[in-house]
Amino acid sequence: MTFLGPLVLAAYLVLYAFAHAIPPLPHNPGVGQSPLQQKPECSLDKWLEKEQEIAIDNLLANIAPGGRNVLDAAPGSVIASPSRKHPNYYYQWVRDAAITTSTLVDLYADDPFVNLSSNVVAILDAYASLQYKLQHTSNPSGTFSDLSGLGEPKFEADGSAFVGSWGRPQRDGPALRAVTLMEYLRAYNASNPSLWTSDDSENWFTPFYHPSLPANSIIKADLEYVSHFWNRTGFDLWEEVEGLHFFTAMVQLRALREGVDLALAFHDDGAAEWYRSQADALENFLPAFWDPSKGHLIETLDSSRSGLDCGLLLGSLHGSPALNTTAASLNPLYPPHSDEILVSLLALVRDQHVRFPINSASPSASPELTRPLKGVGLGRYPEDVYDGYGTKPAGGNPWFLCTSSAAEVLYRVSTHLQDSAQLSVTSRGMPFWEALLADVELEPGRVYTPQDRVFKAALERLRVVGDEFLDVVRRHTDGEGRLSEQFDRVTGFEKGARDLTWSYGAFLQAVRARDRVV
Ligand code: NOJ
Ligand code: NOJ
Repeated sequence: MTFLGPLVLAAYLVLYAFAHAIPPLPHNPGVGQSPLQQKPECSLDKWLEKEQEIAIDNLLANIAPGGRNVLDAAPGSVIASPSRKHPNYYYQWVRDAAITTSTLVDLYADDPFVNLSSNVVAILDAYASLQYKLQHTSNPSGTFSDLSGLGEPKFEADGSAFVGSWGRPQRDGPALRAVTLMEYLRAYNASNPSLWTSDDSENWFTPFYHPSLPANSIIKADLEYVSHFWNRTGFDLWEEVEGLHFFTAMVQLRALREGVDLALAFHDDGAAEWYRSQADALENFLPAFWDPSKGHLIETLDSSRSGLDCGLLLGSLHGSPALNTTAASLNPLYPPHSDEILVSLLALVRDQHVRFPINSASPSASPELTRPLKGVGLGRYPEDVYDGYGTKPAGGNPWFLCTSSAAEVLYRVSTHLQDSAQLSVTSRGMPFWEALLADVELEPGRVYTPQDRVFKAALERLRVVGDEFLDVVRRHTDGEGRLSEQFDRVTGFEKGARDLTWSYGAFLQAVRARDRVV
């Protein structure tokens, strides 16, 4: 992989923009504004290829060491966005950083010998060292000594505590970080088998920083946090409501299950047993998020919101084993192909389809409920009022990371069908399959196999609708392939924090999942 491509392209586009310094016309929403997109011969495949390089380049730009946007940040910090005002996202969120770093681990694991790897290994090591420091930094959520400080959602770019008021604690951070570091250990081990073995049990037990392998003790602290605090309320991934949340619970369960395996590998049998008992309890609790009267999962228990939320998709994606993993004896309750996730995705898409003018030329036209499933711009949740800068009535917009995640879910379902060689249409999942396969006759309760027309049609449609979601991303990028946080529900233009690290990561993960669809 070379970075020259995107640099040359970016330079060209900057020059192009200067030479044609005409502000985009607001009545021409989001389309036809980019030289890339104006070329009709540019297929989605071609665009994805280019955009992938741009995304990696812009993602690395927000990570120290080395990132061009973060020259004053502590090594290892992953900044949410280079935007320092309106809005100020120049902080390291534990969640965004862990999710982004896990994307880098995946890219490294896909091919540890690509050019990327030397930078990436330096970044991953710096990330681990910095997380150790952040864990031990006293902050408004608490301290390390009783682990309460691990629930702190964000830190300053230099690694010091953020002391302003905030929605805290957020209990997904330690789980995501543990998952990321465990993935890193596995990937690292796979390419350097002799360097890190289970005889290093010292590193697992020691609470002290170990310069060559800082990750171990960090993981254990996070697993202790998750196992002791999962049943307490905290703020959701959108940092707004306090309660118990599906996204948080899903990533916590994954951390605990993978933690059992790691503890066993390090002969820490007592920890393994404790994590298993807590994982079992959490798994028994998870079905509380299924609302039978609504017919979909809900993101937050006892909330006045509808519960339809992009956090459901993200919880399923981040709560399931990585695409390349062989380790984890993880068999999540709500993987992307589960009936519960599929019907929740359908309900969310139907809501967003009519909610946002850019998604439908005439929202009042035909009743959405009978229309086939279609890729549209997806926001966080129906009641959202945050427009990327502040809140206002009906301020919510579609988000790039949510739109990409819907594509990833569908591609992963397709891969699952292929791997398992069967499609089982249950009565719970029926609404999704009916919407996906609008003109195909379905028998509830039937298991279809690869020879069946229904099975083939399902594979085809999953791919087509997944691509429709990515096409929405493409339509709303600017001429340089940049991805901000949101795009305007009416004009389609980018809004909110520019160059959002997570937007790039979610896009890259969707493309990785697409690459696995044959
Ligand atoms: C309000 C948003 O809804 C929330 O998600 C965000 O984290 C904060 N503002 C800070 O930007
Ligand atoms: C607001 C989002 O709601 C939250 O999930 C994210 O962590 C921060 N922005 C930073 O990107």
